[in-house]
Amino acid sequence: MGFVTSPKNPVVAIDGPAGSGKSTVARKVAEALGLPALDTGAMYRALTWAVLDEGIDPADAAAVTALAERLELDVGPPVLVGGRDVNDAIRTADVSAAVSVVAAVPEARVILVRAQREWIAVHSGGVVEGRDIGTVVAPDALLKIYLVASEEERARRRQEQDGATEASGDLDATKAAIRRRDAIDSGRAASPLAAAEDAVVLDTTGVSVEGVVEEVLRRYRAALEAAQRT
Ligand code: DC
Repeated sequence: MGFVTSPKNPVVAIDGPAGSGKSTVARKVAEALGLPALDTGAMYRALTWAVLDEGIDPADAAAVTALAERLELDVGPPVLVGGRDVNDAIRTADVSAAVSVVAAVPEARVILVRAQREWIAVHSGGVVEGRDIGTVVAPDALLKIYLVASEEERARRRQEQDGATEASGDLDATKAAIRRRDAIDSGRAASPLAAAEDAVVLDTTGVSVEGVVEEVLRRYRAALEAAQRT
């Protein structure tokens, strides 16, 4: 799959662990730049929702891959699977608990990464957030941001974000769930969660969303100017 990223069709890659602020920052950066945004985590969640809906074992790599191949996914928003609105359903505790296992299936990742690259080509770039955007999906992105935050802060944000749909456990339980998911996401063989060598690592602990967005926009303008000079 060949695709080009240049100042004409720039990709801003935003990666990081759960609760690092990716989704909010990506949405606001996209709005500010007038670029479309793709939440790749929602794609892994939609596949996981379908896996559970069909009663497939998330660890059954062959069955998960076969389902990924025939999945009719519209990344929205709202996210649709086979025309059905699953935008809220993909945020439930059941999906959150199983998604890392599904996302560790290498053959399923190949299928989703291909769809993500197609999205980038069709939209001529955009703000793409996930775990492997800077390393695998768009290694030639104009700007790669890797967001981090303390475990405490990430757990708090996750609770706020998922409050409406996730069973509201205590902070320690959320922390444990995040730690478990991080361990699987970082430890898996296929495209583990990691910062690209050329990524800008931003620690968002104690920084407002506006502050992080402003920093990303500043880096974006600098990257664009540098690219235009060459
Ligand atoms: O960002 P999120 O919590 O919605 O992501 C859900 C899961 O999907 C996460 O546990 C890791 C996986 N994921 C991935 O492996 N690669 C991506 N590009 C995005 C998400």
